[in-house]
Amino acid sequence: MKPFTIAENIYDVGIIDWTTRDFHGYVTPRGVTYNSYLIVDEKNCLIDTVKKPFTEEFLRNISKVINLAELDYVVINHVEPDHSGAMPELAALAPNAVFVITQQGKNEAIQHYGDIFNFMVVKEGDTLTLGKNELYFQPLPMLHWPDSMATYLKNEQILFSNDAFGQHYCTSKRFDHDLDKDILFYEAQKYFANILWPYAKLVPRALSKLQALPLKMIAPAHGAIWSDYIEEILMKYSEWGQASKSETLLIAYETMWGGTEKLARSISHGAATAGVSVRLFRLNTADNSQIVAELLTAGGVLFGSSTLNSGMMPNMGSLLVYLKGLQPKGKLAAAFGTYGWNGGAQKGMEEYMHASGFDVQSGFNCKWTPTFELDAAEQFGYEFALKIKEQNR
Ligand code: FEO
Repeated sequence: MKPFTIAENIYDVGIIDWTTRDFHGYVTPRGVTYNSYLIVDEKNCLIDTVKKPFTEEFLRNISKVINLAELDYVVINHVEPDHSGAMPELAALAPNAVFVITQQGKNEAIQHYGDIFNFMVVKEGDTLTLGKNELYFQPLPMLHWPDSMATYLKNEQILFSNDAFGQHYCTSKRFDHDLDKDILFYEAQKYFANILWPYAKLVPRALSKLQALPLKMIAPAHGAIWSDYIEEILMKYSEWGQASKSETLLIAYETMWGGTEKLARSISHGAATAGVSVRLFRLNTADNSQIVAELLTAGGVLFGSSTLNSGMMPNMGSLLVYLKGLQPKGKLAAAFGTYGWNGGAQKGMEEYMHASGFDVQSGFNCKWTPTFELDAAEQFGYEFALKIKEQNR
C-alpha cells in the first residue's frame, strides 16, 4: 500500500517511532516521529530523512511511490541525526539525488558522514522549481541548530518547518484536527520548552518571516501537521518566544525524611492563599521534561531540597543541570529546604539558579524537620506568590 498523501502528489514517507522514551534527555512518553515528505513532480524531491535505525523502513516507504533512482532532490532542513541519519544510505541508493542544504548544514553533514554527497547550497530567498511546484528556502538559524532551515512549497502553501512547531507525539493520524487538541498543544509547549527555549529570543524574528507566507499547512519534522490550528500555534510561539508569565507558581522538590515535603506543602498553601495557581511536583514522581514544560509559562518557581552530604538531592541536581542548559532567563525563583548539622543544598541550588539566569529571590531554610516553622513557610509562599502577581501588573 502506498503511503498517505498530505496533498496531491505529496506523500508522508516518515517514521513513527512509538517506543522511544528518551530523546537526548527529553522524556517522550508519547514517542517520537521523524517526518519526511516526498513531492512527486517532474523533479522528485524528498523533504528531510529519518533516524538511522529506521532507514530500511524509510527507503521502503519511498520505493512504494518512486524508484530511488528517480529521486532528484533531497532537502536537508537540519542535520541533527534524527533527520539526517538515512542520508548516507540514501546517497548510495539514489545516485541522482542532489542534497539541498544551507552552507552550515553542508559543513555539519560532511563532519557527520564524510564528503560523500552531491550538494546544492541554498540561502534565504533561493527557490527551486520542481515542475508544477516551486520551493522557497528560509533559513531559521538556531531553531534548532545553526544549520536549521524551513522549506516552503509555494503552490500548496505548505511550510516544512523541521523542528519548529514540532511535538513528540506519535499518532497514526497526521493532522491537528484529528487529535486531542489539549494533548497536541501540551506536547507542542513541552517541545518548545525542552528544545527551543534557549533560542526563544530568536523566535519573534523567525515568526515575522514565516507569517509573511500564506500558510495552509505547517508540516514539521516531528508530530502532527498543523492545518486547522495554524493561527493558534503561531500565537503560542509568539507568547513562548516572549517569555510570557502566568500567575502560576511551580514548586519542584525532593525530600529525604519528609521535612522538605512539609515545607513544600505549607509554602503551597500560603501561595494559593495569595491567589496564584500552584503546581507541585516531587521529583521522584515527575520527570525533568514535564517540569520544564510547565515552567515555560509559569510566573515563578521554588526549588526545594533536603541537604544530603552538604549538597542537594541527586534528582534536584539533575533538574538544575538540565535547566542550566535551557537558560530560563528572568524567571522568578527561590530555593527552600532542610538541613541537619550542616547546610549546603540551598547554596548549591542557588549557584545553579544564578548560572541559569533565574531572577533569584531570598529562600527559606529550616534545621532538621519543620514544626513551628510551618507558619513562616506559609508566609514565605504567600509573599513569593505576591511577587508573581506583581510582575504582571
Ligand atoms: Fe529534530 Fe534538532 O532535531
